[in-house]
Amino acid sequence: EKHLAEGLPLSGKKVLITAGPTHEAIDPVRFLGNKSTGAMGFELAKKAANLGAQVILVSGPTHLSIEHSGITLVRVTSAREMYEACHKVYPDMDVAICAAAVADYRPKHVASEKIKKKEGNMHLELERNPDILLSLGESKKHQFLVGFALETQNELENAKDKLQRKHLDAIVLNSLKDDGAGFGGTTNKITFIDKNLEIKTFGLKTKPEVASDIWDEIISRIHA
Ligand code: CTP
Ligand code: CA
Repeated sequence: EKHLAEGLPLSGKKVLITAGPTHEAIDPVRFLGNKSTGAMGFELAKKAANLGAQVILVSGPTHLSIEHSGITLVRVTSAREMYEACHKVYPDMDVAICAAAVADYRPKHVASEKIKKKEGNMHLELERNPDILLSLGESKKHQFLVGFALETQNELENAKDKLQRKHLDAIVLNSLKDDGAGFGGTTNKITFIDKNLEIKTFGLKTKPEVASDIWDEIISRIHA
């Protein structure tokens, strides 16, 4: 209901969010994937919609679902499908947040039949997937673009490097160091870094709380 959304901090704003893992096919019954559940992206989408935004949530395979009048859920499987879905809508977006755990590589050849086991080792050749966030950064016009960084070493250094290399307005560093933080769990510990290298560190929080903190930081910058 448009009139209800008026006056909210994100009313009239269009937001793209990527979420979840990607699955990269090996054969008809196997894939390469990762442990992402999609929870962070879904929380970010819910928060944005509750703040008045029209959200397009592009998600890789997840058990999560969402029913909200402000959210269009686009389900994809592979990194290349996610890339296509994002670029289709990106020109029209005001804010984009890439929270998906996109596979960096995919099997170079996808077998058309289920692969039979043989004696000895099996070799799987991988090729690079497109970097969706980098490509959005390179085609950025007016959008406020936010990425995530998952690091296990030189956290700040690597996050700042991704922020600059991918032409981001901000990056959310997800710390794995503290117990309970990161993938699969219910809590996260984040550091928000903007393009002026202003850094804000948050404590261990639930994912809905983290989503709220991230939107507070974004909103204060798009309204500045
Ligand atoms: N990302 C993406 N497309 C990819 C890989 C990553 O959109 N093919 C996005 C993620 O959604 C995240 C950010 O890029 O917002 C950083 O992902 P991360 O895996 O931490 O960094 P990479 O750039 O892939 O570098 P590396 O894995 O080597 O650290
Ligand atoms: Ca990666």
